[in-house]
Amino acid sequence: MQRILVALGLMATLVLGLACERRGGGAASDTGPIKIGVYADLTGQTSSFGQSTKNGIQMAADEINKAGGINGRQIQLVVEDDQGLPAQAATVVTKLINQDKVHAVLGEVASSNSLAAAPKAQEAKIPMITPSSTNPKVTQVGDYIFRVCFIDPFQGEVMAKFAINTLKAKTAAVLTDVNSDYSRGLDQFFTEKFTKMGGRIVERQSYTQTDQDFSGQLTAIRSANPDVIYVPGYYGQVGVIAKQAKQLGIKAPLLGGDGWDAPQLFQLGGDALNGSYFSNHYSYEDPRPEVKTFVDAYRARYNVIPDAIAALAYDAMKVLADSIRRAGSTDGQKLRDAIAQTTNYPGVTGTISINAERNAVKPATVFELQSGKYVFKENIYPEGMTPPSTTASPTSSNANTAATNANSGNASTANTNAASTANTANTANR
Ligand code: PHE
Repeated sequence: MQRILVALGLMATLVLGLACERRGGGAASDTGPIKIGVYADLTGQTSSFGQSTKNGIQMAADEINKAGGINGRQIQLVVEDDQGLPAQAATVVTKLINQDKVHAVLGEVASSNSLAAAPKAQEAKIPMITPSSTNPKVTQVGDYIFRVCFIDPFQGEVMAKFAINTLKAKTAAVLTDVNSDYSRGLDQFFTEKFTKMGGRIVERQSYTQTDQDFSGQLTAIRSANPDVIYVPGYYGQVGVIAKQAKQLGIKAPLLGGDGWDAPQLFQLGGDALNGSYFSNHYSYEDPRPEVKTFVDAYRARYNVIPDAIAALAYDAMKVLADSIRRAGSTDGQKLRDAIAQTTNYPGVTGTISINAERNAVKPATVFELQSGKYVFKENIYPEGMTPPSTTASPTSSNANTAATNANSGNASTANTNAASTANTANTANR
C-alpha cells in the first residue's frame, strides 16, 4: 500500500513538474527577446512614410532596450519593406507572423496597406498597431487591430470646418486619389461636413498615383470656380498638382490632410504650395516636454526634424511597450487586452487613450504652407474633448522637415499668429 502511495506521489510530482515546465517553456512567449514586426514602404511611391516610421520605431526601441528592456526582455525589431503595395503588405505580414514568430506588428502608414495586412494579424491573433493609418475601416477589421492616431471622419470634418469658419468658403471642388481608401474616405467625410454646414461641392475629379498630368482635372475645376479645392492625397501627387494648378492660373487655395506631410512635398511643389492648408497630427514646436525631448533626440540622431509620421511611429512603439509591461506577457490575447486598456498615455502626438473602437481620440492641427514651411494656424478638437489650458497647445510655426528649416525671424511671426489664433481655434469647435 505504502509503495503504491509513494509511486502515486512520484507520478504526481512528475506530472506537476512537466506542467510547470510546459508553462515556463510556453515561455516561448514570456522569456527571451520580444519580437516586433514592422512593415513599411521603404522603396515605393510613399517611401518617405516608411523611412520616418522605421526611424521613429527604431529610436523608441533603442531607448527602451538601453533602459533595460521590458520586464527584463530586450526588443528585437524585424523590419520588412512592402514597397507601398497592398498585396505585398499582406505577404510580408504573413511572413513576419509565420516565419519570424513576432509577438506584435507595427504598421502601416497608408490605409490601403494596413487594410490589406490587418486580416493576417487578426486571423493569427497577433496584435497590430498602426501608427498613422486614419481610415476608419482599418481597426474595424477586428479586435486585435489598434491605432494611436485620430480617424478620418474627424480629419475630414476638421478641414470642412476650417474652410467654412476660417476661410469663409461657400463652394469647394474635390480632387481624389481614386485607388486610395484614405483619399476616398476623406473625400466622403469632408463632403458630408462641408455640405451639412451649408457649403456646396461644385466639381469632383479624380486621379491615380501613377498619373503625372493633372491638367484635364484641373481645367474642369477651374471652370467651376470653387472657393477652395480639397485634395486629400499623398505628397507625391499633391506637389505636382499644386504646380500645375498654379500654371493654369488657379487662385483658390488647395486644402488637404496628413498625407501631404513629407519633405518631398516642397521639393515637388515649391512656392506653388504657398497659401495651401492641411491638417496634421502634431507640431514639432509644441512646448510640451514630451515633444521637446523627442524632437531633440530625433534631430541629434537623424539630423532632420521629425515629421508627424515619425512621431506617431515612436508613440506606437512606446504604447506597445507600455502594454507589454502591463500585461506582463507577450501572449497575444493578454497583450491585446492590455493595449485595449491604454489610458492617458503621454505621447509625443498627444495624450493617447484607446477607445472601444480601438482608435485614439486626439486633436488635429491645421498648418498653412509658406515658403517651404508649415505655419501653425489652429488646433481643432474632437467633439466632447475640452482643449487643454493655453500652455499645452502648439504656439509657433512648424517648419518642414526638409533642409529648409524655419529661420528664427519667421518663427517668431508665426508665434504671434498662433497665439492670436488660439482662441479662434477653440471657438471653431462645435
Ligand atoms: N493617414 C494616412 C493614411 O491613412 C497616412 C499618413 C499619416 C500620411 C500621417 C502622412 C502622415 O493613409
